Amino acid sequence: MPDRSSDREQWGSRVGFILATVGSAVGLGNVWRFPTIVARSGGGAFLLLYMGIVLLIGIPLMMAELAMGRRSGRGVVGAFRSLQPGRGWWLGGIVAAAAVFFILSYYSVIAGWTLVYTSFGAAGDLQGLDVEGLEQLFAQVTGGTLLPVAGQILFIVLSSGVVYFGVTDGIERWGKILIPSIVILLLLLLGRVLFLPGAIDGVMWFLRPDFGRLSLGVALEAMGQVFFSFSLGMGAVLTYGSYLSRDDDISRNSFVITLADVAIAVLAGLVVISALHAFDIDPEVGFGLVFVALPAVFNTLAFSPFWNAVFFVSLAFAAMTSLISFLEVLNAIFMEEFGWSRRRVVPMVGTAIILVGLPSALAQGALAQVILFDRDIMDAVDALTSSVILPLSGLITVLYVGWVWGAGAAAREIAGDRVDSPFIHVWIFIVRYVAPAALVYIFLAGIAT
Ligand code: TRP
Repeated sequence: MPDRSSDREQWGSRVGFILATVGSAVGLGNVWRFPTIVARSGGGAFLLLYMGIVLLIGIPLMMAELAMGRRSGRGVVGAFRSLQPGRGWWLGGIVAAAAVFFILSYYSVIAGWTLVYTSFGAAGDLQGLDVEGLEQLFAQVTGGTLLPVAGQILFIVLSSGVVYFGVTDGIERWGKILIPSIVILLLLLLGRVLFLPGAIDGVMWFLRPDFGRLSLGVALEAMGQVFFSFSLGMGAVLTYGSYLSRDDDISRNSFVITLADVAIAVLAGLVVISALHAFDIDPEVGFGLVFVALPAVFNTLAFSPFWNAVFFVSLAFAAMTSLISFLEVLNAIFMEEFGWSRRRVVPMVGTAIILVGLPSALAQGALAQVILFDRDIMDAVDALTSSVILPLSGLITVLYVGWVWGAGAAAREIAGDRVDSPFIHVWIFIVRYVAPAALVYIFLAGIAT
């Protein structure tokens, strides 16, 4: 049995752990992906389906990662190695770590753009720009050299500054500040946007169930979104679980964390959709929504610099809490595997991410000519990691929990002596059969596109 080292850091409070993990889940994806998918795929009907998939697959997978982390008391490589020693399973941890490494490289660049836009917004530089002007500005910013690189470096330095102080004094403290701030800022925006003429219609349109649009394809899309939104398959939830105390209830915490993520996604969705609906703009997935369409709407309001700044600050916060969790995945690995101190590992990992991020930062500028698989460098890295490596690593994780470490052992970690409850039997069935089948599908669909 793996020995949890007694000097491992631990969360200071249950709330702190929950907010930090919610922080990992709430990211840019909540703002630019979720609202569009909901609007396109059946509104309220899709939300019901999404909630079903959250319960059926999202929560069980989150429980599996938390159990792996807490039982082993290790980061993602050490967890795979110690729960079932021998036989190369630790490579599963390497796959997850590789996914995190590459996701960090471009996620930090986009996060850097949100910082640039926060300063533009606050300085009033976005004022008076219409959609066309904003499009030009966006092309200029992302196609430049100084701004994308400086934004990325600043973002990594700030996030590294948080993780430098460790689990309780860094990650937990900032989760407690940033997550409530995101909710307050979004509520503020929603309060303003709802007064726009036509906004309430937008809300109705967003939530109205259109069962005719539901299909197997939509269900699979929902599954993919649940998987990404909860930051599964990258060892982030696992690593945060490794700082969890024995007394904490894994299943209850998983419910609270996932529901909070869904609630914040719906809140962001209400802001985005009602704002766009008031101006008859079709919501589209992607950067255009965040950096062009929404600032154009906020520009029509009185005090527009304020509203733009509020919006981009909330985005920057959302990106930061996710980035912090990704950095911690790598930090935990280096601290354990090499016995290095946090003070040494954090600057090292930060520097490495800045370096691998440079090609993504310059993907629309100096390196725009470089095309891989029909995509610029940033899109290529994104496609490879989100659609291929991440589902693969998620699949390895469930197979490992269900069959290698063993669903029975995992269930004992989750439920103690209450393993005979119907809830746990259902969980075991999902982890062994349902989740692997779903992930095989997501993986194959990812390779096909
Ligand atoms: N869940 C976060 C988000 O919605 C972060 C995240 C998870 C992510 N998986 C990802 C970001 C894959 C990019 C790619 O943004």
